[in-house]
Formats: sequence, C-alpha cells, structure tokens
Amino acid sequence: MLGEPVIRGYDFYAAETATLKALYAFFIAADLEFWPDREPIAFNEERLRERSPFRERQDWRVEEGAGDIIAHGHAGFGVTGDNPHVGNGSIYVRPDRRRRGIGTKLLAEIVAETRRRGRTLLTLETASQVPAGDAFVARTGAEMAFEARINRLDLTTMNPGLIEGMIRVAQDRARDFTLDYWIDGLPEGELDAIAEMFGTMNTAPRGSLKVDDHRVTADQVRQGMKELTIAKVSRWVLYARETATGALAGFTEVFWHSDRPSHLAQGNTGVLPRYRGHGLGRWLKATMLERVRRDRPMIRFVDTGNADSNAPMLKINEDLGFRLHMVSRTWQLAV
Ligand SMILES: CC(C)(COP(=O)(O)OP(=O)(O)OC[C@H]1O[C@@H](n2cnc3c(N)ncnc32)[C@H](O)[C@@H]1OP(=O)(O)O)[C@@H](O)C(=O)NCCC(=O)NCCS
Repeated sequence: MLGEPVIRGYDFYAAETATLKALYAFFIAADLEFWPDREPIAFNEERLRERSPFRERQDWRVEEGAGDIIAHGHAGFGVTGDNPHVGNGSIYVRPDRRRRGIGTKLLAEIVAETRRRGRTLLTLETASQVPAGDAFVARTGAEMAFEARINRLDLTTMNPGLIEGMIRVAQDRARDFTLDYWIDGLPEGELDAIAEMFGTMNTAPRGSLKVDDHRVTADQVRQGMKELTIAKVSRWVLYARETATGALAGFTEVFWHSDRPSHLAQGNTGVLPRYRGHGLGRWLKATMLERVRRDRPMIRFVDTGNADSNAPMLKINEDLGFRLHMVSRTWQLAV
C-alpha cells in the first residue's frame, strides 16, 4: 500500500542535496511535458541555491511511499517594493496522479500563504500544450487576464536572403543609430541606463492584469547577471545607440546553454518610446538572428521566451519566419 500522499511545506534553499536532486529530476520531467524537444540542462546545485534579494518563495512537495515526489507547488513573491499586492503560484502534478484532488490541495496552500503575506492577487500561468491547466484554473473562479503567443523559428527553414535584405533596408532607415553587442556581461558604468532601457518592457501589453509597472534598477540587473553566470547561461545583448548623443535606444537579448545546444531562447526586445518608428526593433532582431546562424550553427529552434502579444512585435516576428508554437495564459485570482 502506498498510503495517502503527504504535502510537505519546505524551504527550497535549505533542502538537502539529495532532495534537491530528486526535485530537479521532477522539474525536468515536468518541463518535458511543455517542451518535449528541449534537451535537459544538468543539475546545478549552486544555481538552485542562489537566493535573490528581490524574490521570496515558499514551496510544497507532495510525496508518496518512500518519498517519491508526485506533485509540487510553488509561490513566489517579489520584494522590490513594486506590486506588493501580488503573488505568483505554480502547480505541477505528475500526469499519473492527476484528478485526485492534489492540485486543489496545493492551490489551497498557495492561497493561504499569499494571504498570510498580506497579498491580495494571485497570478497563475497555463500553456496550451497542457490543456488540463486551463480546465483546472478556470474552475477556481480565476479570471483569464492575459493571453499571449509563444512563437518559434526553425532556423533550418529560415531564408537567409530575407534576413539580409531586412537588415539592409533597416540599416538605411536607421542611419542615426549604430548597433553593438554585450556578450555574457554588461558594462558596470552604464548599468543605470541599461536598467532604464530594460524597463521599457513595462510598456508591453498586460491585458487586464491588475499588475503595475515594475521599476528595473541597476542592482536588479547586476543580480540577473550573477544568476546567469552561476547557471552557465550565455546571454548576448544587441543594443542600438543614437550616434549623435551616445544614448541607448533599444536592445534585444538571447539566452543559450551548452547542455541545450539546439535551442535558443529569445528574451526581451525593447525600444525606448522616444526612439520608436525608426525600424530599430526589426533591425535588432534580424541582426541578432544572422549572428546566431553564423556563430552558433548547432542552434535549430529559436523560441520567444516572452510573450510577444503586441502588434508591432508580432509583425516583426512573422516577417522573420516565427510561427505560433503555443499560447500562454496568465490568470488572476483575488484571494
Ligand atoms: C493543472 C493540474 C495542476 C491539476 O492537478 P490535479 O491534481 O489533477 O487537479 P484536481 O484533481 O485537484 O482537479 C480539480 C478540478 O479541476 C478540473 N480539472 C483538472 N484537470 C482537468 C482536465 N484535464 N479536464 C477537465 N477538468 C479538469 C476538474 O474540475 C477537477 O475536479 P474533478 O476531478 O472533481 O472534476 C495538473 O493537470 C497539472 O499538473 N498540469 C500541468 C501544470 C499546469 O498546467 N499547471 C497550471 C496551474 S499553475
């Protein structure tokens, strides 16, 4: 007899190495349900133990028998001072243990923790790859607040002539700007300006989410760099500068891990509002793709890590050859 599954609240950072390894194997299997063709990244204890000063978390694992992990719940809370009313929850139940009420129990823990911290809004994310997520969350009374496309580009079917043509046209149009790269690091002396530029992501649509802007600071950017280094994730940032003033105007960033050679994650792309309308977004994305193809020939798929739900970004992505891969939904629940 396996007995009843046991829900254990625990401190993720203080978990023993053997527990962290078991959890990691569980997370890898969960990830494969959403991204079946992505190579798994090796266990990295230092990465898992790195504690951000800008986020707090509470976790629950559900064990069965001799300690087999069959489900997991997580609640994350930003502690930057912005959005002090929000908590973010995620739940994963192993497919062979679904429809037994485990997800419901984990959600009750997450809701209680969110309330305990004085937060009043819980966000939950689902993806079209796993329809059970939508069915489960819809039943809680949560509101579907934001829907976005996650797109994918298959570089083996990309037309290089099209990208080169796009770069030539864009270059001609944005003569007052120059492009350059920051590879696996950002210049300390410009971190305030970079933080402001990264903050342009606040202007991306948020649907009806009751979430306010999130101010990006140099300290957060520094912490982000530290986390990438520990995780052995390579980040290339391509940025545009206004030639006359030297001011930063826009950027695009991509992430890659050598354990997952055939996949590149396309991160954020942002152009400061005062520099929009010069074709910089298109120029940045096309130039980055050309370099990826040239310098990292092992990459086959480029996945938009973030939802590009706004019309200008969708148009750029479609012209570049990105196609719909999945739909992600963000739900909000008043707690
Ligand atoms: C979503 C998920 C966590 C649900 O876990 P679960 O333990 O199966 O959930 P429960 O048994 O508590 O289900 C509660 C209710 O949700 C609804 N529901 C759950 N899965 C469903 C499905 N596949 N189809 C239709 N309704 C479903 C049902 O109303 C169910 O009650 P019922 O079984 O009495 O009809 C699980 O499917 C999962 O891990 N999915 C992948 C991760 C994910 O998408 N998470 C999103 C939430 S953050």
